[in-house]
Amino acid sequence: EITLRTLAAARGLRIGSAVSDSALEKDSGYQDKLKYEFNSVTPENAMKWANLEATRGKPTWEKADAIVDFAVRNGQTVRGHTLVWHRSLPTWITDGTLSTAELRDALKQHIQGTMKRYAGRVSVWDVVNEAFNEDGTLRPSIWLERLGSGYIADAFRWAHEADPSAKLYINDFDAEWATPKRDALYKLVRDLRAQGVPIDGVGFQTHTLIKDPIPAALPLTQLQDTLKLFAGLGVDVAVTELDVRVKLPADADKVAAQAETYRRAAAACFGVSRCVSLTVWGLTDKYSWVDSGVPGWGAADLLDRNLQKKPAYTQVQAVLADR
Ligand code: G3I
Repeated sequence: EITLRTLAAARGLRIGSAVSDSALEKDSGYQDKLKYEFNSVTPENAMKWANLEATRGKPTWEKADAIVDFAVRNGQTVRGHTLVWHRSLPTWITDGTLSTAELRDALKQHIQGTMKRYAGRVSVWDVVNEAFNEDGTLRPSIWLERLGSGYIADAFRWAHEADPSAKLYINDFDAEWATPKRDALYKLVRDLRAQGVPIDGVGFQTHTLIKDPIPAALPLTQLQDTLKLFAGLGVDVAVTELDVRVKLPADADKVAAQAETYRRAAAACFGVSRCVSLTVWGLTDKYSWVDSGVPGWGAADLLDRNLQKKPAYTQVQAVLADR
């Protein structure tokens, strides 16, 4: 059987999936699909700070370790996700009890402690995630408000110091198309590179939706232009969190439009030499974040609730086979 992984590997490409630590722990069908279909994995939640250090100074590595061990056993790249974010933070960070100096030191320790633990096993990191507002201004996160805009460059410098061989990414959503956020991200990456800040790549999440009714033109035509634009800065690019949700209930038209959207996204990435990986944000509709994250929407993944291949899978497979 020709899996996505087999096709990608033969072409020197990376095809990845987000990994639910709880599904990996209990579902052997899930484990099989993850291992045979993908050569890259991203912990969906296990490496978020709230999950690694809910209590200050008492790290809980078990779930992240289980994913990394699985990946190493199965020869998969790990994209670490995510070191600096405004969500999924421990309350001891957000409750306002730390001084600015303590907060800065805690962030540095978190970045460096996490990266050093996984050095040699996690080769790519989303260092900074979702730093921008839709209008292209910096998001007023705890990091911006307490540490100032220099937190971004600092995070990359600290990360590089912790593991000089890791590939360091900035990651965001809604920068795939010609948006103010894309312009701002472009300028930031250009300026960071000009200042010698160690940033290696830009991740485009690419959470996408099929509207109801389905629009004539699916919104992915600008993705390849965006990937090329950023590659022109001398960085790698990646599609890091692709999923295509539909308004429930799904029907044949929506499922077909979804498959076409997956096809375009895969063709966009794999048609750009510096697009080094394409990761889907969820292996199966059985465990998708969309069900609780975006009520009324779902069925966003390549495999259905019974881990069976959907038309979207066949389209991604065809794109890989064509490369
Ligand atoms: O683990 C607990 C569980 O013990 C508890 O019973 C349950 C009750 O709500 O919550 C569980 O934790 C949830 C976790 O997902 C696992 O299901 C969290 O509340 C929930 O906030 C968390 O949502 C995740 C979200 O990021 C926030 O961290 C989603 O799974 C995850 O898919 C989503 O991923 C993000 C990327 O990191 C960044 N880009 C956008 C993407 C989608 O929102």
